[in-house]
Amino acid sequence: MRVFVTGASGYIGGSVAASLARDGHVVRGLVRSAEKEAAVRALGIEPVAGSLDDRALLLEEARGADAVVNAASSDHRPAVEALLEGLRGTDKVFLHTSGSSIVADNACGDVASLAIFDDDHRPAPVPERAARVAIDRLVVAAGASGVRAAVLCNTLIYGDGLGPHRDSIQVPMLVAQARKSGVARHVGRGLNIWSTVHVEDMVDLYRLALVKAPHGAFMFVENGEASFRDMAAAIAHALGVAGPEPWPVEEAAAEWGLARAVHTLGSNCRVRGPRARQLGWQPRRPPVLAWIEGNVR
Ligand SMILES: NC(=O)c1ccc[n+]([C@@H]2O[C@H](COP(=O)([O-])OP(=O)(O)OC[C@H]3O[C@@H](n4cnc5c(N)ncnc54)[C@H](OP(=O)(O)O)[C@@H]3O)[C@@H](O)[C@H]2O)c1
Repeated sequence: MRVFVTGASGYIGGSVAASLARDGHVVRGLVRSAEKEAAVRALGIEPVAGSLDDRALLLEEARGADAVVNAASSDHRPAVEALLEGLRGTDKVFLHTSGSSIVADNACGDVASLAIFDDDHRPAPVPERAARVAIDRLVVAAGASGVRAAVLCNTLIYGDGLGPHRDSIQVPMLVAQARKSGVARHVGRGLNIWSTVHVEDMVDLYRLALVKAPHGAFMFVENGEASFRDMAAAIAHALGVAGPEPWPVEEAAAEWGLARAVHTLGSNCRVRGPRARQLGWQPRRPPVLAWIEGNVR
């Protein structure tokens, strides 16, 4: 199969692209610097120099591919529109990467939410997430216009990436702070819970969806969940530092920025993804707390 991947030098896109190249697929990956071109080439990915703003390039790559994986951004609507246009009426697969913060709350670490959403039951988006949700809906709707389009809505991804970019977002942020200060901390009381998935299980789902994605499917990508207090405790233990300790959101914001402190590290984001399992997905990597204990040093 000939697959075009955006974000090929990134954590998600690089992991998917490297895995597909290893399986023998012809993988063309969008990159935007000479340094990244070399990095993806070393993994057997053919670099395509350009950016998500190059509409003509995205159209051409989509038309020349058997399938497209969009993993550079969950929020770049013009790129999604161009890729869908290039695929319209072909019945080819388009996998769009979204993120489960579309259901996140403003708990600031102080509440373990009881609200659990799933593929078919999602709340109306808060204003900050409305644009991302609108892109997800555009992709789902494309299922009716001759594209086997699906949204893979990732949760907190952990584990070492398989491409040029090894680090995900939340766990590495907690680890970096703990290393720097000698104290593992979480926002507020750390009671907030996120659904999680190991990066290699996520890659397995992308590979499966390339073959079996139903038209217009929305899938949460999750396999378990953990509170931020428990993740910080596992980090403290793994690094041999103090903690876990609560951190007022204002102090956490000084370290991570307000949006990251509130939305990325202080919110609840609990989801279930039955549709991925109905496709036959069988996640098998260790849960996040065991992974931290076994791999963070
Ligand atoms: N990691 C997670 O836990 C997670 C979970 C859910 C959703 N998401 C979302 O999924 C998306 C990808 O996440 P990630 O963790 O893989 O991020 P990442 O490691 O930063 O990778 C993003 C990739 O996209 C490329 N890129 C970004 N903007 C581009 C543009 N305008 N033109 C061309 N290439 C562009 C980057 O290129 P450079 O290498 O040149 O920077 C990089 O290769 C993000 O929107 C993120 O919010 C991530």
